[in-house]
Amino acid sequence: MCKKAGYAVVGLGVGMAHVKAAAQSKRANLIAVCDLIQEKLDKVATEYPGTLTYQSFDEMLKNPDIDIVSICLPSAMHAEFAVKAMEAGKNVLVEKPIDITVEAAMKIEEARVRTGLKAGVVHQNRNNADMPPILDAVRSGKIGDLVYGDFEVKWYRTQEYYDNGGWRGTWEMDGGGSLMNQAVHTVDLMQWIMGDIESITSHMGIYGHDIQTEDLTVSLVKFKSGAAATFVSTTCAYPGINTGIKIYGTKGSIEADSDTLQLWKFIGADENEEKEMLEKFGGNGAAAALDPTLCTGHTSMVEDIIAAVLDDRDPQILPTEAIKSVRIVTSVYESAKTGKTIYFD
Ligand SMILES: NC(=O)c1ccc[n+]([C@@H]2O[C@H](COP(=O)([O-])OP(=O)(O)OC[C@H]3O[C@@H](n4cnc5c(N)ncnc54)[C@H](O)[C@@H]3O)[C@@H](O)[C@H]2O)c1
Repeated sequence: MCKKAGYAVVGLGVGMAHVKAAAQSKRANLIAVCDLIQEKLDKVATEYPGTLTYQSFDEMLKNPDIDIVSICLPSAMHAEFAVKAMEAGKNVLVEKPIDITVEAAMKIEEARVRTGLKAGVVHQNRNNADMPPILDAVRSGKIGDLVYGDFEVKWYRTQEYYDNGGWRGTWEMDGGGSLMNQAVHTVDLMQWIMGDIESITSHMGIYGHDIQTEDLTVSLVKFKSGAAATFVSTTCAYPGINTGIKIYGTKGSIEADSDTLQLWKFIGADENEEKEMLEKFGGNGAAAALDPTLCTGHTSMVEDIIAAVLDDRDPQILPTEAIKSVRIVTSVYESAKTGKTIYFD
């Protein structure tokens, strides 16, 4: 396909990052946006003249110029709207988490297979600058056998953040709290780096907010490889501390804060190696720990679904891959609620 892809976005919170990326893409035309709130539609119409605006998703789907729809709605609405879009012949890019249950997420995968359309999921942290060297050190065996991983998402969110929109911090629409919403990115990275999980044992609680769901989870994770990890997620860590990804193997140790390397030590390594790696991939951690509007990286995901559609290839993150983190998150909740260890197949 040599034409440009026609792009649309539903949900204009983080969806504005998709709007911006589509508008700037050389391979797409921003055609339309949809939201229930007229002021949000007016803002897009002003900033991106010529963009069509809809309050009805069904009406927007009738537009034949739209090839791809970004689904940026509250998390529990993702599967319903993604499936509807695919049934109308549109390819989809779905925000994280793919949905709040494995069963709902599977509906997106079933629709993808049934329609032959493209369905990608946003887990933009896989494209963080420090991910290629970390993955390479693990996959190549440089780090040796994995021993232990220490993952911590110590973020801060105000009560006002939860009150805004009415869906955050509810089991029905958010599907969870600090783990399902904020830390699901790091859950995705944990399973991507460390491999298949054998079991999870967890505690969770509500400590600093007036919400239904948790604002702290603490988990012990065992992997099929024999390695272990601890995973902590919270939105109570004022003022928003870090996203720690720490991996220790029999031949070395790596520590990162979000998208920046902090430590790179390997037995017998050249003494300049760590210095060079920290110069290249080091720095301060990402600011999303404090401020949700500072999440970055959507451009790579939007460009990826556009390329998948125009070049007829799979998107970077298929539903089957994104479902893994939802399964892990829901297992943490099940373990915390029942007091039992959850075993994976
Ligand atoms: N990838 C990331 O880093 C990242 C960052 C933030 C949010 N998210 C995800 O994006 C999704 C949306 O989160 P948000 O923070 O933007 O939420 P939000 O509440 O700010 O925005 C959601 C928008 O959807 C609109 N909406 C609701 N129902 C609708 C309907 N039936 N038709 C049309 N519009 C409707 C609302 O009016 C609202 O403007 C969530 O799943 C969240 O987890 C991802």
